Amino acid sequence: MKRNIGDLAVFGGSSAFLQPLYVGRPNIGDRTRFFDRVNWALDHQWLTNGGPLAREFEGRVAELAGVRYCVSTCNATVALQLLARATDLTGEIIMPSLTFAATAHAFRWLGLTPVFCDIDPVTGCLDPALVEAAITPQTSAIVPVHLWGRPSAVDQLAKVAAEHGVKLLYDASHGLGCTSDGRPIGGFGQAEVFSFHATKVVNAFEGGAVVTDDEELAKRIRSMHNFGFNQGRVSTEAGTNGKMTEAAAAMGLTSLDAFDETVRHNEANYEIYRSELAGVAGLKVVEFDRAERNNFHYLIVEVDAAVTGLHRDLLGDVLRAENVVCQRYFSPGVHEMEPYRSERPVTLPHTERLAQKVLALPTGPTVSREDIRRVCDVVRLSVQRGHEVTRRADDRAKTMAGAQGKGK
Ligand SMILES: Cc1ncc(COP(=O)(O)O)c(C=O)c1O
Repeated sequence: MKRNIGDLAVFGGSSAFLQPLYVGRPNIGDRTRFFDRVNWALDHQWLTNGGPLAREFEGRVAELAGVRYCVSTCNATVALQLLARATDLTGEIIMPSLTFAATAHAFRWLGLTPVFCDIDPVTGCLDPALVEAAITPQTSAIVPVHLWGRPSAVDQLAKVAAEHGVKLLYDASHGLGCTSDGRPIGGFGQAEVFSFHATKVVNAFEGGAVVTDDEELAKRIRSMHNFGFNQGRVSTEAGTNGKMTEAAAAMGLTSLDAFDETVRHNEANYEIYRSELAGVAGLKVVEFDRAERNNFHYLIVEVDAAVTGLHRDLLGDVLRAENVVCQRYFSPGVHEMEPYRSERPVTLPHTERLAQKVLALPTGPTVSREDIRRVCDVVRLSVQRGHEVTRRADDRAKTMAGAQGKGK
């Protein structure tokens, strides 16, 4: 256990972990089942093109999301693009900036214009009143994100979208297995998109899906993700290749088999983090509405530098020196990245404030109770002595700059 600032690895102490502890390790599940599935695909020489594994995966995802249709894809970025094309979007798309860059890039890549809108500072998700104010005659859709699996304001957003005649399409990349008022994420808006990237709560190596209750929309996306072909393999419109392979579906099914256990482990980890970090002034562990279901896949802390004297970035440096490979999900906001910051500069005060504070810490089934205790020891020590850590880091930076100057 580290008791003094001098024990921190960033100031010369030994690292708390010999091996790196990562955020977003893949949830693989039972490897034997995975290899059995892959062997089945090889034995039957059916590797892609809507094979039985991809179809089984789609059925299981639809069930979990409480919807009638699911089209699996090669990733969520392409799923968002298929959805944009299949709903004939044009012009401006309103979305949050506190998200992964792909939310915006998917639409920008199609020549559409992401319009970033500020968030509710409590939930981190789009503020419906600000969304309404951002609607123009060019707006064709709202694309909210259920940030870290916390549901967006689905009812208010549905009202805004209906009143203004624009589409409501969710980027639900984080939301598998989560609910809003007991209703599963997946069934909101015209459609929702999940990601099954290796870092997500369920992974298919790379993968995604569009889920919807709209039969015609599902049919169009299914055709579009296979070159725009109809049943007779004749193209009816320009499509793309967005299919999920059988190997990816084998991984997705195996990861899905482990989903309940993964969530149980994540929730237990979350409770340990909460109790270990309770009462540390200026540090908040992200809150989930416990009346809802959540996958607890993201363990986010907010560091308030005004209270702690320690900026989130310095805490990140301290942790990385201990071999704790934390992540700044999602900072800076996408509106502060290119091409958006040059093309369409905007100020989003709530987004910018929250983006300065958030840090994702390791969780998941491979992270043990003891790992968390050790991570929290470092976090507590650094935050509680935040001013001192900052002073020492500044002094060290000055000394190093001086030494470099002399070396010239
Ligand atoms: C909110 C969000 N949207 C979109 C994506 C893109 O997903 P993919 O990597 O499956 O294309 C991700 C993560 O990767 C994400 O976190």
